[in-house]
Amino acid sequence: MVTLKHITGLKDFSRRDIEDVLEVAIGLEDVCWGKKVSKLLEDKVLATLFYEPSTRTRLSFEAAMQRLGGKVISVADAKSTSSAWKGESLPDTIRTIDNYCDAIAMRHPGSGAAEIAASYSRVPILNAGDGTNEHPTQGLLDILTIRKERGTLDGLKVVMVGDLKHTRSTNSLTLGLSNFDVKFTFISPSGFETSPWILDVVKKRGVPYSQTTDLKQAVQEADVVYICRIQKERLEDPGDYEKIKGTYVFNRSLLEGVTKLVTVMHHLPRVGELSEDVDSYPGAAYFRQTFNGVLIRAALLAILFNRLPE
Ligand code: NCD
Repeated sequence: MVTLKHITGLKDFSRRDIEDVLEVAIGLEDVCWGKKVSKLLEDKVLATLFYEPSTRTRLSFEAAMQRLGGKVISVADAKSTSSAWKGESLPDTIRTIDNYCDAIAMRHPGSGAAEIAASYSRVPILNAGDGTNEHPTQGLLDILTIRKERGTLDGLKVVMVGDLKHTRSTNSLTLGLSNFDVKFTFISPSGFETSPWILDVVKKRGVPYSQTTDLKQAVQEADVVYICRIQKERLEDPGDYEKIKGTYVFNRSLLEGVTKLVTVMHHLPRVGELSEDVDSYPGAAYFRQTFNGVLIRAALLAILFNRLPE
């Protein structure tokens, strides 16, 4: 079984590490649906420390901890309600909060903030998204979703479309999936392409990929299509948003004439790039994907505390 001290990114996760996490997560279905009571982490406290808005990530971390019998303390808006507002540094905040809990799930606007927090923390840091860098728990829940929807992680054509430059979810997903036998197609508005450091890892691992602008054609050949929003708040020139927001919109007409089932995913929230007319399509997995977030976060907490469920 993989041993983890902190979870800052998927860059160094092997195929085996990912498979270990998925196995634990799959075993926690009944606990995470509340059908089976668990006391696995009843003596543990998780702190959620979020410097950026969140719906799914923070609440599913908290749900996962509570489903495992653990307790949660939370700062949902650290920028304005913690001492960060008074100017406290991240290292000082971490060296304070780690006195109150056994693990910290943190979201921060700075790329690399999770590594910094980990270097100061007495307790495990779980990166819940750091700037445009990584979102490893999202990457793992996305991989779990693909595995559950497709029954395998090998032999798949995976299309990613949208703002691949600023989206940390697709960074982590690409890094994690590049341990498997997949083929990537990346589609983004000009200037919003996948970052070179991600492509370097993909190339180093010998994973085939292409970059195209033809979404219709890519969907015809895809097993999985992963759509992401334009990260408006991360653009250097906010004026760019209005210009590019409609470049790629995934709607039901793109699936016309596609005979095999395509798995459609999105990290959410969606803000126009994924039409609601896709929701009734059997391959639309994005709300099932959100439950997998509870499974993965519960599995990671169990692994970090070295308390594997029976
Ligand atoms: C994402 C995030 O914050 O990185 N949301 C999420 O965790 N599901 C993506 C986003 O905000 O667009």
